[in-house]
Amino acid sequence: MSAASDLSFHVTPGGGLRGRMRVPGDKSISHRAIMLGAIADGVTEITGFLEGEDSLATLSAFRDMGVAIEGPDAGHVQIDGVGLQGLRAPGADLDLGNSGTSMRLLCGLLAGQRFATTLVGDASLSKRPMRRVTQPLGQMGALIGTTEEGTAPLRIQPAKSLLPVDYQMPVVSAQVKSCLLLAGLYTSGDTCISEPAPTRDHTERMLMAFGYPLRRDGSRICVTGGGRLTACRLDVPGDISSAAFFLVGASIAPGSDLTLEHVGVNPTRIGVLNILRSMGADIEVMNPQDAGGEPVADLRVRSAPLRGIRIPEDQVPLAIDEFPALFVAAACADGETLLSGAQELRVKESDRIQVMAVGLEVLGVDVEPLSDGIRIRGGAYRGGQVDSRGDHRIAMSFAIAALRAEAAIEIRDCANVNTSFPGFAALAAGTGLGIEERRA
Ligand code: S3P
Repeated sequence: MSAASDLSFHVTPGGGLRGRMRVPGDKSISHRAIMLGAIADGVTEITGFLEGEDSLATLSAFRDMGVAIEGPDAGHVQIDGVGLQGLRAPGADLDLGNSGTSMRLLCGLLAGQRFATTLVGDASLSKRPMRRVTQPLGQMGALIGTTEEGTAPLRIQPAKSLLPVDYQMPVVSAQVKSCLLLAGLYTSGDTCISEPAPTRDHTERMLMAFGYPLRRDGSRICVTGGGRLTACRLDVPGDISSAAFFLVGASIAPGSDLTLEHVGVNPTRIGVLNILRSMGADIEVMNPQDAGGEPVADLRVRSAPLRGIRIPEDQVPLAIDEFPALFVAAACADGETLLSGAQELRVKESDRIQVMAVGLEVLGVDVEPLSDGIRIRGGAYRGGQVDSRGDHRIAMSFAIAALRAEAAIEIRDCANVNTSFPGFAALAAGTGLGIEERRA
């Protein structure tokens, strides 16, 4: 049995969240900072890097491909970039653990190399769909083998040359968009990607921070291959996806008043703020600033009565990772919350509709899973033992749910919290959550 199954959270009911805190660095931005820093010319300095297992998997992959990287040391990383053509064949398969972002983005970046690589992951990552990237990369001439189910291991062979594409994405996915933009750097022409709905645009913003030109025209983004990235300094903002647990926690727990400092508030990531505010949450956005092309702010959240809503479908991609936490908010709201158009939740680190529905039901919440969403009727709920199924965001969401439960909640299989939020339990305890880690 893996260590992942051995860690549980035991959370006592009630309490409020108070004080000031800083959540760890943004996971999406941390991955991209390593990738672009590695293929840039010159030395890139990163501060605020997320020292979680997912972004560390990306960092190790580039070390294995010959990139000298110092750190991480208290969020500081220094990368001696090797340039677009400077990566070297790794000595072994690249193990990306639980990280879908590492696998999908690296697949695009590695499709254009002159050496072969094999990308592998843990049991969860090995079940996730990869054709969404291998199919369009195939159109570009990439040679990538998958299992019959279209899953990892991904065996990438050097292509004769990568051809630019003009691709209309069928799925709403920043990972697919980013994968193809990275592959586009290795073509000799214009690669254009059109997205059906806006998704997080960190890759686009960061390419520009590295001095790489990019053209946007509405939902269409184009890059010309063969350019050059110039090393820069990057300050990674706090991850709004990690802040989300505290935004929900402080909203639902009476007497809360919590300020989250230096959180990324990129417009393509603030669905959780928009949705919570429509439910009646009291969240103040303070000190807005620019951190190297990414907007950041302090978020002050005070408890407020929440009401159930129909979640607008245009908010789904903007809050895609925050739904487990938002389901807890819905369970504490007055009335019914309905989510639709969110079938992507079924292919995240776990089937988040199913796993959340099972756990909420254990707690006595009135919940109906739908093929592309969920219906949740808010009200009082009890404690009990729930299983996160190794999904970091589900583990943290149920921990926060204890703030309004009638009895303690025990959450099993929590070690993967370290993929995105190392130190979650200690930080949460410091603000007032009665959380304790237990090892079997
Ligand atoms: C991510 C994009 C999202 C998100 C994931 C991180 C990224 O996935 O769920 O946690 O960094 O690009 P999709 O783009 O596949 O929805």
